[in-house]
Amino acid sequence: MATDIGIDLGSYKTVIFSSSKIVFEAPSFVTVDNDTWEPIYYGEMAKQTLGRTPDSLICVNPIERGKISDYDLAENMLKVYMEDAFGSRVLRPRIMATLPAGLTELQHHSLANVIEASGGRNVFVIESPLAIAYGLELDFSTPHGYLIIDIGAGTTDIAVISMGGIAVCNSFPVASFDLDNQIIKYIRSEYNIEIGPLMAESVKKQIGTVVERPVEIAMVAKGRNVFTGLPESFEITSSEIYYAIKETASNILSAVRGVLSAADPDLVADIKNDGFYLAGGGSKIYGMDALLSEFLGTKANTLDDPEYSVVKGAACALRNSDVLKNVNYQLRSLKELEIS
Ligand SMILES: Nc1ncnc2c1ncn2[C@@H]1O[C@H](COP(=O)(O)OP(=O)(O)OP(=O)(O)O)[C@@H](O)[C@H]1O
Ligand SMILES: [Mg+2]
Repeated sequence: MATDIGIDLGSYKTVIFSSSKIVFEAPSFVTVDNDTWEPIYYGEMAKQTLGRTPDSLICVNPIERGKISDYDLAENMLKVYMEDAFGSRVLRPRIMATLPAGLTELQHHSLANVIEASGGRNVFVIESPLAIAYGLELDFSTPHGYLIIDIGAGTTDIAVISMGGIAVCNSFPVASFDLDNQIIKYIRSEYNIEIGPLMAESVKKQIGTVVERPVEIAMVAKGRNVFTGLPESFEITSSEIYYAIKETASNILSAVRGVLSAADPDLVADIKNDGFYLAGGGSKIYGMDALLSEFLGTKANTLDDPEYSVVKGAACALRNSDVLKNVNYQLRSLKELEIS
């Protein structure tokens, strides 16, 4: 049976959507042998080795900042994930894959290649802000502007869309992974304790905030004392994390301002009326909607399950035959690209 499939090969998580549901999701990590680059673990198992591998192994992220950085590993990973999701049940799938806005045609082609090599037959590629807009059923065919902000792990994709496409965009290479890194740096400098990336992520999710919380909260974290090398527990508060990550959050605000500054003033006026659409797992940090809303002076339209809005939208776009025909969206099947 022919099936329609949406794939979001994110820097943090790969998600596969088909038949109106998420059929597979796993971290975009592969643990490989350091000498042979042979994959040992994929997905959650690989992620758990982050910062914990012996010298013989290394945990790799084949998608960095939204772009494929290791083609062979990305292809192997996706093959394993497609097999996990569908076994051998799926025939002649039509696949819509997403990538950050503003990349080159060659990068679109490379993504389509990786997907075809992992079992896809009829592969299309769409920029993630457009995928989100299709998923939300926004009518962006007219000269009316919409602002989409997708805060992922490796990139913050900011786009003003209008007239059926992207008017202005920036795939800004600062996002939620950078918040983790700032937390690691802060704890090292303030406590002389090294924490791993998984602990940093957990701190971010539990007590992280980009605005001052009305009531401070705290948690106990664990790491290794840089002087003694011994394990240590310590208490850390939400105010400290706010202080640690506020500059990174402010860099994201500046990137949004940059995109609006380059957009047509009438499109910006539309956004003032309608508000902006906030997607991506990174948008779930406490206060991000309020921070952006205050900065932009307009309302935040938050989405249910924001980390899945891209993949759901990609599958929706496949149902739209106009999208598939319109090369202005840079949606081309691999076969068409090879002919052209
Ligand atoms: N409740 C939460 N609070 C704070 N951060 C969160 C929360 N839930 C998820 N995240 C962060 O969101 C990020 C993942 O978001 P998402 O799944 O949108 O990324 P991605 O699409 O894989 O990345 P990219 O789009 O940059 O390639 C991770 O860094 C994760 O720690
Ligand atoms: Mg993403």
